[in-house]
Amino acid sequence: MTTRTVAKLSELAEATPTRVDVDGVPVCLVRMGETVKAVHDTCSHQQWSLADGMVWDNGVECSLHGSTFDLDTGKPSSLPAMKPVPTFAVELDGDDVRLDVAAPTNDAPFPDH
Ligand code: FES
Repeated sequence: MTTRTVAKLSELAEATPTRVDVDGVPVCLVRMGETVKAVHDTCSHQQWSLADGMVWDNGVECSLHGSTFDLDTGKPSSLPAMKPVPTFAVELDGDDVRLDVAAPTNDAPFPDH
């Protein structure tokens, strides 16, 4: 796969997780000013959608049990999750938000589903 447009910056609300499907991979996007961060949308604890949660500082909190995942490293900062989620580099090209789900920036395993 290659880098491709997955969303429009102008359509992303500030500090609000947004789920997008990228070639069958669910990705959670979070706009922070003029940058966007991206992590795999599936919580590493019990496969809940992280986009259903809230953003705290530089993390997204899972709405099911409350683990918070760092948006840069994918690592959970609180239990019950213990494994990181994949993270993705985001490129901005004008209003286009672009990423490649085949090139995660950490070595976190993808969920089985
Ligand atoms: S499903 Fe996310 S913390 Fe449990």
